[in-house]
Amino acid sequence: MDHDHVQPSYYITTPIYYVNAAPHLGTSYTSVMADVQARLRRALGYNVLFLTGTDEHGEKVADAAAEHGMSPQEWCDSLVPAFKDLLTMLDITNDDFIRTTEERHTKAVQHLWNVMLENGYVYKGSYDGWYCVPEETYFTDTQVRHADEERGTEGQHLCPDCGRPLEKRSEESWFFKLSAFQEPLLELYRTNPHFVEPEIRRNEVVSFVEGGLNDLSISRTTFDWGIPLPFDGKHVTYVWFDALINYITAVGYGVDAEEFAYRWPANAHLVGKDIIRFHCVIWPAMLMAAGLEVPGEVFAHGFLTVKNDETGEVKKMSKSLGNVISPETVVDLLGVDGYRYYFMTDVKPGTDGAISWGRMEQVYNTDLANSWGNLVSRTLNMSAKYFDGRTPVLPEGWDTEENPLSAIADGLVDRYVEKMGRFAYDEGAAEVMDLVHAANGYIEDMQPWALAKDPVNAGQLARVIGNLLEAIRISAHLLAPIMPRTSPEVLRRMGAEAEVGRDLREACSWGQLPQGVEVTKGDALFPRLVSDDKAQKGDKKKAAKQK
Ligand code: MSP
Repeated sequence: MDHDHVQPSYYITTPIYYVNAAPHLGTSYTSVMADVQARLRRALGYNVLFLTGTDEHGEKVADAAAEHGMSPQEWCDSLVPAFKDLLTMLDITNDDFIRTTEERHTKAVQHLWNVMLENGYVYKGSYDGWYCVPEETYFTDTQVRHADEERGTEGQHLCPDCGRPLEKRSEESWFFKLSAFQEPLLELYRTNPHFVEPEIRRNEVVSFVEGGLNDLSISRTTFDWGIPLPFDGKHVTYVWFDALINYITAVGYGVDAEEFAYRWPANAHLVGKDIIRFHCVIWPAMLMAAGLEVPGEVFAHGFLTVKNDETGEVKKMSKSLGNVISPETVVDLLGVDGYRYYFMTDVKPGTDGAISWGRMEQVYNTDLANSWGNLVSRTLNMSAKYFDGRTPVLPEGWDTEENPLSAIADGLVDRYVEKMGRFAYDEGAAEVMDLVHAANGYIEDMQPWALAKDPVNAGQLARVIGNLLEAIRISAHLLAPIMPRTSPEVLRRMGAEAEVGRDLREACSWGQLPQGVEVTKGDALFPRLVSDDKAQKGDKKKAAKQK
């Protein structure tokens, strides 16, 4: 692949999703989070590679396929479209979608096996342990005993993670010398304190590694739905070992040295907190064993839980509790941008987030309908009304005059980028919302309708509307990574369509408002939701639209 190597690369990934479970809110949470960062980085001039995909090997998949009377490949092929559709529905701009059953991935995995063998980090042995089929993970006797004791299920041999019954297995296996990497990993966490974010997860990882590392069984002989070892065809690669490699497959590992040099190491792997050991311990050790660089950062987000608005109870989202919320129903209620805004700003990235219908409605109405949407519609209406359907033509020097909005806009892009860049989306959005709130307050303070009564105030009126439009123009740019539909629409309505996709830093300096151009009023960007506890979620939106 040809690249303009002058442009810096920014490579971000999501975990690759298990095809066995249908995509859900948790899955899409990671994808939206990565998409916001990808859009932000593109707007900052990076050449972005945003990768997502599906994790398709393993015994569980083979078993499910058999139950459905399909081959594992057919089964996977039938499930992948749902993942792609969800990405499309949420305006996710992934540049690539990798499937672990693709030829390019087999090649990369087998290449890595050969390198590891050459480097002396894999060896053949035998594995005796307790296997959890649903989790596809082996546990040692000690791990199982401790977990059983803690739970009061002594002697039952239940999975330490999920509590389901384990199977005793003994098989010939290839091992990865993970134990050799304890010191190098601790050194990595010391020298790059941002390698694992947020801090709570870093502490967890560090203490896990300090506790000592065992070698890892990384091949299986009891089933064949996996990638065969290039030098021992009776074995297939353990799913996690296979899955992690997707991050280097996609950038040409072992195939395209130039592409690989440009893209690797990845800047950020986004993962849920449940899979940090794989990403922060095993994966960097694998890379070190292969003589490759480790990624810049692994950011672990929390889990979405569901809060019952009536009882206030917070529970895990699960089918058996009947509280699963599908991404579609939320999009029905809030629209795509509302969905993205809610999850990205109301769930503090890195912590667990209790979501609820009541809270969604509140955030949407307060921030989007009443503040941002209202500011845009009031300002465009006034501009159209007082300036003959156009934006005002401003007096010379207007852009350097002091006013409360330009004061906030000054340095705003830097404050925003610093926060957004470290995934603190709630804080980044709050910076922009400060400007939005100030602009709504400025309307009340300046009372443009009073100024409009006397032609003597024409210059002042133009300044006031000009300042408001300028604050809107800048806010639209800054909100675009989170709300990619409404921001271009706002710019279009204010006659600034040409601004869409501009370099963010350039676009956000005060004083570039297109003057004397036609404005379009348009429908409400975020129609207010009316609360009606009995109404079905989807109906609420209809109710709001009819008002
Ligand atoms: N296939 C592995 C990842 C391999 S990456 C080399 C996997 N897949 S998964 O489909 O089970 O999970 C994918 C992501 O969804 C994980 O980051 C997980 O944390 C996230 N979530 C699953 N349920 C979630 C919530 N309820 N809330 C937020 N994210 C959650 O693990």
